Amino acid sequence: MKIGVFDSGIGGLSVARAIEKALPEHEMIFVNDAEHVPYGSKKPDEILGYVVPILQKLVDGGCQVIVIACNTVTTTLITELRAHISVPLVAVEPMVKPAAEQTRTGVIAVCATPATLASQRYGQLKAEYAKDITVVEPDCGDWAFMIEHQQVDERAIQARIQEVLDKRADVIVLACTHYHWIEELIKRLAKDRADIIQPEQALIRQLKRVLTQLA
Ligand code: DGL
Repeated sequence: MKIGVFDSGIGGLSVARAIEKALPEHEMIFVNDAEHVPYGSKKPDEILGYVVPILQKLVDGGCQVIVIACNTVTTTLITELRAHISVPLVAVEPMVKPAAEQTRTGVIAVCATPATLASQRYGQLKAEYAKDITVVEPDCGDWAFMIEHQQVDERAIQARIQEVLDKRADVIVLACTHYHWIEELIKRLAKDRADIIQPEQALIRQLKRVLTQLA
């Protein structure tokens, strides 16, 4: 089957590689929006205008399912996108629920773009799964840009991670796929004081379920 994978930029590439490894028997097409990345500081309406034609092109090119490998797009627009696009959309979103279940200190950190943190969907996830715990949201506003342009400032990342450790977060959620590229760095900076979680494996499980239904 033909699987489309979309992200604003190189974040989706790490997800695409994980999918390719797990499902080598399927054809995969990865597309991003190099012209408009990063999305995390843009308004949902603007992002919608960029994303719909890109996804439509994947559908026209024969993709029977599309992976939205972008938390920003999912949390701000998934309902609108499902109304526009005729194939199933399998999407990543911030792992608030697993983090809330996993924490022992009662404090989790969510690293995400400003648009994700401001979205209604993210607010719902917190209201539903994290109402009895503390959610720390470090300022990661420039991380996607740094990662996209391969200008990772380790000291700036270290400062953010130290800040959440100081607040006793013991689970750190990578809620932007760009941050998957610095997962090992974050693990090193967290020095066993926090678990780092990201959604690739959960996404692949969901994708497999959808592919079985389509077969
Ligand atoms: N990789 C995207 C995400 O998961 C967005 C990064 C951006 O374009 O700002 O949110």
